[in-house]
Amino acid sequence: MTDTFAGGGAAPEQVAPWWRSAVFYQVYPRSFADSNGDGVGDLGGLRDKLGYLELLGVDALWICPIMRSPMADGGYDVSDPRDIDPLFGSLELMDELIAEAHDRRMRVTMDLVPNHSSDQHPWFQAALAAGPGSPERARYLFRDGRGPDGGAPPNNWPSIFGGPAWTRIREADGRPGQWYLHLFAPEQPDLNWENPEVAADFEQTMRFWLQRGVDGFRIDVAHGMAKPPGLPDMETVDTRMLAHEDSDPRFNNPGVHRIHRGIRRIMDEYPHAVAIGEVWVNDNNRFGEYVRPDELHLAFNFRLAETPFAPDSIRAAVDNSLRAVTMVGASPTWTLSNHDIAREVTRYGGGAVGQARARAMMMLEMALPGAVFVYNGAELGLPNVDDLPDEVLQDPAWARSGHVERGRDGCRVPLPWEGERSPFGFTTGRPWLPIPAQWAQLTVERQLERLDSMLSLYRMAIELRAVRPEFAGPGLEWYGSPPGCLAFRRAGGLLCVLNATDSPIVLPAGEVLLSSAPITARKLPANSTAWLV
Ligand code: NOJ
Repeated sequence: MTDTFAGGGAAPEQVAPWWRSAVFYQVYPRSFADSNGDGVGDLGGLRDKLGYLELLGVDALWICPIMRSPMADGGYDVSDPRDIDPLFGSLELMDELIAEAHDRRMRVTMDLVPNHSSDQHPWFQAALAAGPGSPERARYLFRDGRGPDGGAPPNNWPSIFGGPAWTRIREADGRPGQWYLHLFAPEQPDLNWENPEVAADFEQTMRFWLQRGVDGFRIDVAHGMAKPPGLPDMETVDTRMLAHEDSDPRFNNPGVHRIHRGIRRIMDEYPHAVAIGEVWVNDNNRFGEYVRPDELHLAFNFRLAETPFAPDSIRAAVDNSLRAVTMVGASPTWTLSNHDIAREVTRYGGGAVGQARARAMMMLEMALPGAVFVYNGAELGLPNVDDLPDEVLQDPAWARSGHVERGRDGCRVPLPWEGERSPFGFTTGRPWLPIPAQWAQLTVERQLERLDSMLSLYRMAIELRAVRPEFAGPGLEWYGSPPGCLAFRRAGGLLCVLNATDSPIVLPAGEVLLSSAPITARKLPANSTAWLV
């Protein structure tokens, strides 16, 4: 880095499918808006708020799981993948939602969960009844236990939510029997993707939703569906909650790419649609393998969300994310948070500083080439709620960890829409998680009235990104910048400058298109970002 701003360069523009540079809005349906007063958000609530999302300017929705589920993991435990859970609505309502979103020129993508089913899925119930060696058991990963009485799990893998990744069942005669694998909660048995019935059923599910008009899928645990031959022990048992290394045998096995090629063949029959994989892997080469031309269209890259508010780390995250996809001709994705990660305002320090940094990072993210995913509530600058009472916690990680890990409920608190008191228009009933009284300051209603709100900044940033030619081009060039700052230029001519120091810096030449904090005398305040053209 240098003390002055200098640099530039242009890359050729490409004609791109809609999803390449779309702004996706992630709806965590339980927490978005409730239309029937049961305290849990639903599709009716989402439909009522489509006008708001249109105003926000997003191109597409990603709706977290809404299929039939006993809700052991917020819907990521699916008992019927081709129906809507009554908690959220009905197939008819989903059809209406898709049509209304399309009328408003928003695409609709939904979460599918191919790695595991619910333990209440008819297949799993049949597998329990059917006994060892049966075709019913072969749809899952049942194994005999180790030790003389089979009393020890088949291998040493821990579950991502704590405790062993294996649960022992009782056979029909009441005796302790085989064990089944569940990388997540015991209510989420892993499916056996070596079994052609599993792929065939997933194909049916994809076609079912695509034919109803959805524009694609977010594919849960897209790096986990293939298991290593023989299910070998882990060398070092990694018991961190919701985390794993690239060497972890539970994930990123080479066989997963055959599965993704199969999924892509089906997707290609619906050329408007996109498949976006949840892929947790650090190595750039291995990440790139998931987005080769015959695999997923996009994969989530979580580097930016894992990065502290520090210029070197941010630059490394951007460079690595770009490198991982450009090697295979794919497009990057960016996100600052989701329903599994602490909210960015809190990660960046909370309070006014956390807000300022979240604004700055959002503008940096929106200036990058590729697709952006905004987690519901990020546009309101919601913080994580880290002081939820123990008795309301619902994340399976809380119980599985013996009440040590509080889990992810803190980033899933329902959105505040209007008014001065909880539940702030989210529901007419009692919200499934309590909403902090201080969120009266953060309601949509209040933020729409103020030009300096997080919501207004999001609206302006999304609009500029969509309409200004300066955002064109697939790549970026780093621009010389003072210590503690970052600057890059897009081929179209946009210059994005982030000041991560604690004092103002003088901006380089150019017209200021937007800034995350007021600029006076051409000085960009601490913890803020400006776009120049
Ligand atoms: C990833 C999802 O984002 C998370 O919420 C869920 O718990 C696991 N996959 C298991 O499905």
